[in-house]
Amino acid sequence: IKRIGILTSGGDAPGMNAAIRAAVLTASVHNIDVIGFHYGFNGLLDNDYQTLLPQHVQHIIQRGGTILKSARCKTLHTAEGAKQAAMALEQLQLDALIVIGGDGSFRGALAIAKYYRGQIIGVPGTIDNDVDGTDYTIGFATAIDTALDAIDKIRDTADAFERIFLVELMGRHSGHISLAAGIAAGAEQIICPEFGTLQLGSLKEVITPIKHAQLLRGKSSYIIVVAENSYPGGTTALAEALSEELGIDCRACILGHIQRGGSPVGADRILATKLGSYAVEQLVAGANLMMAGEVNQQAVLYPLGQTGDKKKPIDPYLVRWQQLIASD
Ligand code: F6P
Repeated sequence: IKRIGILTSGGDAPGMNAAIRAAVLTASVHNIDVIGFHYGFNGLLDNDYQTLLPQHVQHIIQRGGTILKSARCKTLHTAEGAKQAAMALEQLQLDALIVIGGDGSFRGALAIAKYYRGQIIGVPGTIDNDVDGTDYTIGFATAIDTALDAIDKIRDTADAFERIFLVELMGRHSGHISLAAGIAAGAEQIICPEFGTLQLGSLKEVITPIKHAQLLRGKSSYIIVVAENSYPGGTTALAEALSEELGIDCRACILGHIQRGGSPVGADRILATKLGSYAVEQLVAGANLMMAGEVNQQAVLYPLGQTGDKKKPIDPYLVRWQQLIASD
């Protein structure tokens, strides 16, 4: 291997820069040239790239976002687009491509692979942690801490007013962030897609534990962490429906993209360093169409085509704990 490309794609995640840095530094040790594409796969289609030398990745380990920028790329959904991207890789004489992103980005990589003779490896970077084949994705740990900081602050005002708050967290269609941040914040209730979709207007299962808690503990603040896409009308509509049903003010707070930003926490920097470096080493060893993941602290390869297959389960022990305290 002489020349590799690297890009970050889909929702950015804290730690992506640390992964780019690790890949560039490892490549340099192996005398491999690195080209960084801008704006995800769009950089391939638009010939928008830069050479990445060790001096370009200095002091980026602590920075959120991605120095390469990110984007979602609809053009790759067509065979024409995938062919064009593969051609760009061939023309630049790249022996391999590293894709840092989530399973949507890996699907894009697989589309290109149909027309590309080089190697492709994925590095899991998404706050959602919804990628099979790795215990954690890069950015997940930071997103939990960011959400936690916000929920702790909401708890102060919720306590002062003895209010019910619904805090909506990201995760696309998974509840990894909500379960982790909800547990760590001591949320009274957690609602996430893995617990089954709430039907529009059917609030009984949300209200029963609230009433139970009010009976048991008297008036007190009550925080419900809601994973996005858990209620058909959205979290604000859920808060309004609850207010009406309970006859008390329920406030909704949609945390949104704040969860994607910020300096990566130590765990994300370490994971990103490990996986960015491992990806390059495995390319040198001949890996193709694999993802570099970490399972039980061991760096492992996992088939890129299977990273979205199983719908990675949320921690069953924490689910049981949450159900236990919600009904207590
Ligand atoms: O995949 C990361 C993520 O932040 C999800 O949690 C969320 O559903 C989605 O991206 C938001 O995407 P966008 O930034 O395009 O609104």
